[in-house]
Amino acid sequence: MVSVWSATAEISQYEPLRTDRRADVVVVGAGWIGLTTALLLAQDGADVVVLEAGRIATRTSGNTTGKVTSQHSTIYADLLDRHGHDKAGLYAEANQAAIDQVAALVQTHGIDCELTRAPAFVYSNESESEIKREAEAALSLRLPAQQTDGREIGLPAVAALRFDNQLYLHPVKFLAGVATALTAAGGQIFEQTRVTDVDTEDDGVLVSTQGGPKVRARHAVIATLLPIGLIGGYFAKTRPQQSHGIAVRLPVEAPAGMAISIDSPVRSTRPWPGGGPNGLIVVGGGHETGSEEDTAAIYQSLTDWVSSTWNHPCQAEYRWSAHDYSTADQLPYVGRTPGSDAIMIATGMHKWGLSNGMVAAGIFRELVAGRPDPWGGLYDARRIGDVKAVAKLLKDNAKVGKEFAAGHLSRALHGGLDHLEVGQGGLFEIDGEKVGAYRDPDGQLHAVKPTCTHLGCPLNWNNADTSWDCNCHGSRFSYDGSVLYGPATKPLDRS
Ligand SMILES: Cc1cc2nc3c(=O)[nH]c(=O)nc-3n(C[C@H](O)[C@H](O)[C@H](O)COP(=O)(O)OP(=O)(O)OC[C@H]3O[C@@H](n4cnc5c(N)ncnc54)[C@H](O)[C@@H]3O)c2cc1C
Ligand code: FES
Repeated sequence: MVSVWSATAEISQYEPLRTDRRADVVVVGAGWIGLTTALLLAQDGADVVVLEAGRIATRTSGNTTGKVTSQHSTIYADLLDRHGHDKAGLYAEANQAAIDQVAALVQTHGIDCELTRAPAFVYSNESESEIKREAEAALSLRLPAQQTDGREIGLPAVAALRFDNQLYLHPVKFLAGVATALTAAGGQIFEQTRVTDVDTEDDGVLVSTQGGPKVRARHAVIATLLPIGLIGGYFAKTRPQQSHGIAVRLPVEAPAGMAISIDSPVRSTRPWPGGGPNGLIVVGGGHETGSEEDTAAIYQSLTDWVSSTWNHPCQAEYRWSAHDYSTADQLPYVGRTPGSDAIMIATGMHKWGLSNGMVAAGIFRELVAGRPDPWGGLYDARRIGDVKAVAKLLKDNAKVGKEFAAGHLSRALHGGLDHLEVGQGGLFEIDGEKVGAYRDPDGQLHAVKPTCTHLGCPLNWNNADTSWDCNCHGSRFSYDGSVLYGPATKPLDRS
């Protein structure tokens, strides 16, 4: 399944890494965070090498909603309660600044990415009180916020909070432009180069890749959504949350602003310029990665919501999904890892990694230059944080692992693999062993061992995305066993 963004953008192809290299900074992962970080560093004159397991901008950043906004649903009231006025204020300021930084990159490098200034709304059609609470928080933090009655959104709403002068864009066109600007500034990108290990060495790092070549550098920035393997133990301090997106054409002009509801089920919308004046992007259906087998039903529920909201039968022209990680204290982890000054990471963006990711890129730029974190350690990757919240998250993680060890969510299908129909997949029990199987549209059978290569959790079949998903820490594998998303770095065994 390909997102509307990947289907409508051209990205240059980059060669795999074939020989050992040295660099000032090696960036692992070429999504939003890796590419913007690499560009800022290269602009400062650093010698930067980017290593990407697949193609650039094709994982979560190529499947995002594309809103660059400081309005992160109703986060500010919670941040004020949990972290106090100073930290909530820094979060607001950092994410507002990120909007201008993204716009500045687009302008400086002439990136054609449908960048549009628009208001962002968070709204409810059920209750005014939570919106009012968030409005008070946002205003106290001097965000460009205004409470409204919701009538201007173009969606059923009784109350809304409007943030002015926010952005939406075509994320893959933006990243393709960032990659071009990066190589023009002397940076090097290597695709189809999966990193398997990152070790500290002397006063730097040694990065090993699956194909054999290694990169030595003074710093490594691990921008792989969740740090790969066991780096920093972040897999145990975060939870993977998946959402699904569709692009549709409405019978009328689409609402001009960006909007996100707080009612259940949550729906996030924004214009789809490629679909003409009636084009709309809808994202929702959130769940923990690997916890839903019938994802086809989730896409259907998004389409049904559009049809009922506009009272007209609609068809999804594109469908896609992706996941991101949440943290216990609602703040991302960005900066140096507990074990090493030379290895830095960014994760836990809570599905707001376009603005938070731009903040991360700015932090890496300062740390690499030996300057202090511009946001005073707000996202400190070494923090212990709210001990109770982290302890609960660790417990949740352990529970997920145990539940999965006890048995797959997916029911094992009966009958032989011969009966598997084209387009069908699932778990089979053969001679007491679980086998994951899928028959592709050409009739070819793909059979894998459905055990995650990260830490051994059993995998769950995802029928619409035709992938094997891990609920423990979010690794996802294609039906043929290749890694789609880490932290796993090794493919599944083929049966
Ligand atoms: C459905 C959805 C909608 C969202 N919408 C928004 C939005 O509107 N606004 C917003 O601010 N945020 C949004 N987010 C969040 C945002 O998209 C993410 O936080 C952000 O894209 C994360 O960027 P990244 O660079 O960390 O990850 P990615 O884009 O996933 O990049 C990581 C890269 O690392 C590579 N990689 C992984 N392992 C290895 C390895 N071993 N070796 C080499 N490379 C490797 C991957 O192939 C990938 O290219 C959304 C998230 C989801 C799930
Ligand atoms: S992602 Fe950790 S065990 Fe699967």
